[in-house]
Amino acid sequence: MSVTQEATQGVIPAQLLKGQKALVTGGNSGIGRATAIGLGRAGADVVVNYVAGREQAEQVVEEISGFGVRAAAYEADVSQENQVVAMIERMTQEFGTIDILVANAGLQRDAPLTEMTMAQWQKVLDVNLTGQFLCAREAAKEFLRRGVVPEVSRAAGKIICMSSVHQLIPWAGHVNYAASKGGVQMMMETLAQELAPHRIRVNAIAPGAIRTPINRSAWDTPNAEKDLLQLIPYGRVGDPEDIARAAVGLASDLMDYVVGATLYVDGGMTLFPGFATGG
Ligand code: BGC
Repeated sequence: MSVTQEATQGVIPAQLLKGQKALVTGGNSGIGRATAIGLGRAGADVVVNYVAGREQAEQVVEEISGFGVRAAAYEADVSQENQVVAMIERMTQEFGTIDILVANAGLQRDAPLTEMTMAQWQKVLDVNLTGQFLCAREAAKEFLRRGVVPEVSRAAGKIICMSSVHQLIPWAGHVNYAASKGGVQMMMETLAQELAPHRIRVNAIAPGAIRTPINRSAWDTPNAEKDLLQLIPYGRVGDPEDIARAAVGLASDLMDYVVGATLYVDGGMTLFPGFATGG
């Protein structure tokens, strides 16, 4: 049993998302991987999107298939309109529809302002913000076409935007990333307002420091981890499964009345921990 399987076993109810079809972008690694596996454990059929790392994506598919649900790996670059359109079309054909979109794919290209290239700025905005916009747009078309199917879910569709504590906390040396996540917040809230009358729920998760490849240097030495823990009142670095459990809950009818919310899953990072003793 993998670490992810152990961390979600007994916590995620196996039938919670039964019969639902989920797409997780960037589902081959980190938070996306754990979330795809968590959704599968909850009974959803899952499409694992990836842009590079096909083998990892196929491993995730294999793990999910072990829960007795359907899973498949689809390659697509979420920043490319034609590829996103084709991905949702293919999912609708092969899985019948889409009920849950986790717009998770994201990356960092860090540099101080005066050294940041146009390419670094653009890449991060293209993937983190435009990518979520394109996936949300195409998923919403299918939600609207199909409408509510009461046996499946109270909602016609659920979109979860993977944001970050950096939609709130400014982050020197990461202006492209922070700007993209600030954009995700307002995009999510605007889409939530626009789509709620159609019974489509749009929400976000804002992870704090989660142990994944994106921030390896922040936790992979004892000194780095000690510094990082200064920023986390709860006293531990997050695991991808912390986000997976939040995503499963948010996608489920347990949270049917949650619309346009950002769920911070950050061990208290956004509580201004410096003020616990200062100020
Ligand atoms: C970033 C990580 C960082 C965390 C907390 C995330 O959104 O991708 O690199 O460790 O925020 O600062």
